[in-house]
Amino acid sequence: MKVINTIQALRAELSSARAAGKSIGLVPTMGALHEGHASLVRRSVKENDVTVVSVFLNPTQFNDKSDLEHYPRTLEADCALLEQCGATIVFAPSVAEIYPEPDTRQFSYPPTDSVMEGAHRPGHFNGVCQIVSKLFSYVEPDRGYFGEKDYQQIAVIRRMAEDLGFKLQIIPCPVVREPSGLAMSSRNTLLTDAERQTAACIYAILKESKELAADHEVDEVREQVIQQINAVDGLEVEYYSIVDGLSLADVHSWNEAESIVGCITVYCGSKPIRLIDHIRYK
Ligand code: PAF
Repeated sequence: MKVINTIQALRAELSSARAAGKSIGLVPTMGALHEGHASLVRRSVKENDVTVVSVFLNPTQFNDKSDLEHYPRTLEADCALLEQCGATIVFAPSVAEIYPEPDTRQFSYPPTDSVMEGAHRPGHFNGVCQIVSKLFSYVEPDRGYFGEKDYQQIAVIRRMAEDLGFKLQIIPCPVVREPSGLAMSSRNTLLTDAERQTAACIYAILKESKELAADHEVDEVREQVIQQINAVDGLEVEYYSIVDGLSLADVHSWNEAESIVGCITVYCGSKPIRLIDHIRYK
């Protein structure tokens, strides 16, 4: 496994792989890797000759400075895990390498990027599109691997890739959960043990709501989920939206779309830590 820090060295390495007819998989990450990331890397290693994992804490997608400051940074441990998973290249550039000048590009793909996280974290998806479009153009991957935990992010990246004419296949990969059901996230390391247990209620309540959906309207299910989670000491819902699984537009009846997903953001604990999760109703 090679650790590369510059775009030029990355391009040189990949052009010889491409010339030799090798397929390339890309797994973009912000580091602080866990089993969820490892599952993406293992899948890419299975499906491609070369797997590039980018480890870059992208400042342009953080609308909250203190969130960026507190984000865990663990490059050494990340590289050890990536080596075990069989990654070929770790691309770990500096901020100056990626943004020698401020990136002034504006991306807009409503409603995918304007609802939910888009509404609560202004500029977040613009920053995600800035970095992911740069990575796609440096690496020119055949396949890009993204965790479904960030359900909305995949929908936005799909639109961006179509819009800019990137030819790669976007591969969504299932959420990896802790035994308690809590979705794995780099932010979980910021929770105390007690908060982690509390946070596990989020998925338990989402799962129960699937049964409720059999004989309740969409709006009733949404309200119930919000009430039940807010009733847990230490949890506070920021939003719970039940949406068309593709367009991410709100739905109000179970017949309104072929796929329907509930997406939630919850604050947990006293710091508090912002956690996201989702459940598929159909
Ligand atoms: O999902 C993430 O970790 C980030 O948003 C991504 C896709 C690596 C872009 O910085």
